[in-house]
Amino acid sequence: MAKNQTLYVCSACGGESLKWQGQCPHCQEWNTLSRLSIGAAGAGPLTALSTRAASAENAPVVAAEGDSLAAAGSGFSARRLMLGMGELDRVFGGGVVAGSVTLLGGEPGIGKSTLLLQVAAGLAAEHAVVYASGEESVPQIAARATRLGLVAGKLVLVCESSLDAILSLAAERSAAVLVIDSIQTMTLAAIDSSAGSVAQLRDATAALVRFAKASGMAVLIVGHVTKDGAIAGPKMLEHLVDTVLYFESDAGSRFRLLRATKNRFGPVNELGFFAMTGTGLKEVRNPSAIFLSRNPEPAPGSVVMVAREGGRPLLVEVQALVDHSAFGAPRRVAQGLDANRVSMLLAVLNRHAAVPFGDQDVFVNIVGGLHLTETATDLPVALALVGSLRGRALPPTLVSFGEIGLTGEIRPVVHGEERLRELQKQGYQRVILPADNAPRATPEGMQIAAVRTLREALDAAFG
Ligand code: TYD
Ligand code: MG
Repeated sequence: MAKNQTLYVCSACGGESLKWQGQCPHCQEWNTLSRLSIGAAGAGPLTALSTRAASAENAPVVAAEGDSLAAAGSGFSARRLMLGMGELDRVFGGGVVAGSVTLLGGEPGIGKSTLLLQVAAGLAAEHAVVYASGEESVPQIAARATRLGLVAGKLVLVCESSLDAILSLAAERSAAVLVIDSIQTMTLAAIDSSAGSVAQLRDATAALVRFAKASGMAVLIVGHVTKDGAIAGPKMLEHLVDTVLYFESDAGSRFRLLRATKNRFGPVNELGFFAMTGTGLKEVRNPSAIFLSRNPEPAPGSVVMVAREGGRPLLVEVQALVDHSAFGAPRRVAQGLDANRVSMLLAVLNRHAAVPFGDQDVFVNIVGGLHLTETATDLPVALALVGSLRGRALPPTLVSFGEIGLTGEIRPVVHGEERLRELQKQGYQRVILPADNAPRATPEGMQIAAVRTLREALDAAFG
């Protein structure tokens, strides 16, 4: 085997090939392979292939077996740090775990640095926190902290792109939390390539993971995203870390959604809601209010539903517009939900409720830019479609949810009770829901229409 080997590494998946190719053989991305020279010492992937005898020295040390597993794991879950923002703690699954590594991705300017600065300053009241930025200078960050009215406490602010220096500082201060803003600006001295390259990203992240596990420090890393919204760098970064969070927003909106797409210590797809204000990010305690349009007059084609997104019930407005099709094939456009599902609902409405849409253009939209994938949207969408077609508005105090089957039956959906509680909390009095989701006793002041078929549902709404 040659001492100096040249490898080609894919910037999309981190896969390695021995020769340059236009297309990565691992992930099929085009033009992503770049050359990586490794000396004898760095030839990790190649030496790993050499046949090493399984001697006693190389055998893994068994730390826990059988019953002692529980003992080995006890106390671990207890070591969580509350970040001081309910919405953020929720996304982490109840605070950040000591010794864990979290990657936070999001578009430029969405508020990643602001969020982590607020969190770092909040934690610094009690814990030692190191905030390392390779992007902004100390005066810039300090000015922002002052504007946000943050009190620094035990916060150590460093502007540094040498990860070696940051890690030794964090170790020296025995920090409880280390913030790295961003991984694309960090360099390890041992790696002979520039910041942001595949080799640097990979090894810097791996070094942070090793450091976190060894020291019990919680590490929060900012990651830039590519044009299509994934965290820049090899996909492998997401495999290395414990938690991956994405910060999202609708273009131009001040509301921000934080979503966990991977979490070794909690549920995934939990959502946290924030609003960007003049004084930093504020958590939104009542997110249901965001997704309702503020039209005080009842309008045909608008129906409020209780969706379940990010592990919580949310009130969301569904809008439909049905209009006579001027020419050609009628259009079916769906924003925020599956267009095929809408086509299916149109067919069911035609066959089982005698409401034809054959010569009508149909547009359906979920207000607030949410994307809903659950079947509980069926019934509210059907009501909105019929309301728009007939020009009949539903009362603004009415809410609905439920699945529609191909035979026109209304099927129950999961978390019915939780949805009912949410709509009650938000002051809605009338609900049209699947009969199998109806509560045994009608809550006081509520009017419940429990329906079994699409016809019954339309009668309850418009009859
Ligand atoms: P920032 O945290 O720098 O974004 P990122 O690190 O994700 O690139 O956020 C910068 C944006 O947030 C900027 O456009 C201004 C806005 N902002 C506010 O509206 N209010 C504030 O209090 C702060 C600090 C920023
Ligand atoms: Mg930033």
